[in-house]
Amino acid sequence: MSDWFKSLEGVLAQLWQGLEQGVADRSAPARHVTFATINGEGWPEARTVVLRAAIRDRAVLEVHTDIFSAKVASLSVRPCAELHVWDSETKLQTRARCTVAIAHGEAVAETWAKVPDPGRQSYGITPPPGHPIATALAYEKCPVLDSFAVLTCQIERLDAVYLGAQHRRAVFIRGDNWAGQWCAP
Ligand SMILES: Cc1cc2nc3c(=O)[nH]c(=O)nc-3n(C[C@H](O)[C@H](O)[C@H](O)COP(=O)(O)O)c2cc1C
Repeated sequence: MSDWFKSLEGVLAQLWQGLEQGVADRSAPARHVTFATINGEGWPEARTVVLRAAIRDRAVLEVHTDIFSAKVASLSVRPCAELHVWDSETKLQTRARCTVAIAHGEAVAETWAKVPDPGRQSYGITPPPGHPIATALAYEKCPVLDSFAVLTCQIERLDAVYLGAQHRRAVFIRGDNWAGQWCAP
């Protein structure tokens, strides 16, 4: 779509197209998104994750992780996150403010069954992620369903910044059915 940045609907459509591409295409900018949370002490925490699903009609994004990771502990206290992506091709920054539901165990067995073996290696480690170890490789990977968690991120607010010749910014809110509002960039 040319000149997509000139209308609110165009920006919203471009933003979702970018997220959907991230799920489908390993080399797309939104494949690896920054996932930010707030820990129990109020510190922000940002890390890279793979975007596993982007469902526009439900305004949902999905991320997979280790249930014993720090981000899950943080989300258990404050179920809020922001996902961020910068697409240098389209010159579009997307930020998605979300409330996050953590699912694990039998509830995610079907999803786990579809995770290929190399991918499974990321979920399940002894000692748990972030635990101090005596030497760099003093850990074992032990991928099991019990370590796997699916983070379902319900988007509440989208903030898009377009850095073309003229900068534009638009904010979309779930509560007003994504009507959109231009903002000063
Ligand atoms: C390219 C890349 C992709 C990553 N994908 C994921 C992912 O999908 N899920 C995940 O939990 N961690 C992923 N990680 C690791 C996280 O960035 C992070 O180091 C790890 O989850 C521990 O974070 P935490 O201690 O803040 O929970 C990825 C790291 C990189 C560099």
